[in-house]
Amino acid sequence: GKVAVMFGGSSAEREVSLRSGTAVLNALQQAGVNAVAFDPAEQPLTALMNDVKADRVFIVLHGRGGEDGTMQGALQLLGLPYTGSGVLGSALAMDKIRCKRLFVAQNLPTAPFAVVHNDTLDYAGLLAELGGKVMVKPANEGSSIGMSAAVNAAELEQAIAAALQYDSEILVERWINGREFTIAILGDTVLPIVEMRTPRAFYDYEAKYQANSTEYLCPAPLTAGQTAAMQHDALAAFKAVGASGWGRVDLMLNEQGEHFLLEVNTVPGMTEKSLVPMAAKAAGLNFSELVLRILQQTQT
Ligand code: DAL
Ligand code: MG
Repeated sequence: GKVAVMFGGSSAEREVSLRSGTAVLNALQQAGVNAVAFDPAEQPLTALMNDVKADRVFIVLHGRGGEDGTMQGALQLLGLPYTGSGVLGSALAMDKIRCKRLFVAQNLPTAPFAVVHNDTLDYAGLLAELGGKVMVKPANEGSSIGMSAAVNAAELEQAIAAALQYDSEILVERWINGREFTIAILGDTVLPIVEMRTPRAFYDYEAKYQANSTEYLCPAPLTAGQTAAMQHDALAAFKAVGASGWGRVDLMLNEQGEHFLLEVNTVPGMTEKSLVPMAAKAAGLNFSELVLRILQQTQT
């Protein structure tokens, strides 16, 4: 069979996807898999059937049009099996607001939040309601694109305006002061926790992909009890949104030792610096073994 590795795309995370996809394609080819690149921003989807003649798709597209259920739906209609979550899980995980509502419904810990559209707001009132410091995020983005923190009304107004450049729906979340973690899930297995430490204000785009100052600790230095509790909630969050196959759940731990779920990523980064490969390595799987395991999870 032939595997089309789908990467690139036209979301704001295109550059990240190009790096993730190149790494996946190389690993598959080196493992002897008949794999070819396919960029939906450059080729019509019908070429997958007519020219490429792929019989499976490895999705390494991040963000809208690739990670949000639309591509999954298109492939399903074309009858092509693909890696990772299905339509519903992808769509829900992409939307940070609906994702958090599902966490709340299942009593999973997540920071208090408000949803904002393009309306006139009582910025000072909203800020006070959420504890005086907030993180502002476009509902449907990744890699921290369009995100910023705010501690006063002017900053909040500016942060919302910046986020509105990426989405019409904005998440304003109480700021969690503490440590940042991520938990990868592969099939039914929860991998060791990764901690990300950055001297920057938070683990933003630069800390993720450009800075050399980011430190990664895996397995994260946590008590056995804390590790188990966070892994339990990460898997529960993954299931709450209907995700499957593989993915990554991001969390924070505050100074009181309480953890909070941020979101679920259904096509997490697969660059050489990325977190899922790091967690897999700590579990004894090298990059190529990881990629083959994800390919095995292909669903129809
Ligand atoms: N959205 C990026 C690719 C991640 O979650 O790793
Ligand atoms: Mg994300």
